[in-house]
Amino acid sequence: MEDLFYICQKRNHLRWNNTYSLGIKLIDDQHKKILDFARDLVNYIPKSDEDRDSFFKEAIEKVVEYIKTHFATEEGIMIATRFPGYEEHKKAHENFILTVVRYIKDYEAGNRQVLTNFSHFTRKWVLTHIAILDVKYIEYYKKITINR
Ligand SMILES: [Fe+2]
Ligand SMILES: [Fe+2]
Repeated sequence: MEDLFYICQKRNHLRWNNTYSLGIKLIDDQHKKILDFARDLVNYIPKSDEDRDSFFKEAIEKVVEYIKTHFATEEGIMIATRFPGYEEHKKAHENFILTVVRYIKDYEAGNRQVLTNFSHFTRKWVLTHIAILDVKYIEYYKKITINR
């Protein structure tokens, strides 16, 4: 897990490469898009306070909408295959959303530092979540479909 994160850190721009591939196109494509999004966040440089405010608002809306779709896709696969780690995985997804909600509240309360923290959190979360948890249900899914 750490390895994956540091490999990615070295590449700096978080571009998709096959190290992150779990071998299911639909999921890989969604992860690619989330990583693109995380890269945009990390590379963002505000031109003004107004610019930063609108960027942050838009970024949060985008991430919440897209990630919810992604989580629903994954959880749908887990339910369909009766994946035993479903509850644990669902909890991790919920915790991510709760953390994002906390960031929104902090930002609205005037903490402008939140934007940087949010960007780094999202980047790290996505990479570690793929490497630790997503890989488990994908392996299970592959096992199930091969044995059919
Ligand atoms: Fe997941
Ligand atoms: Fe995922």
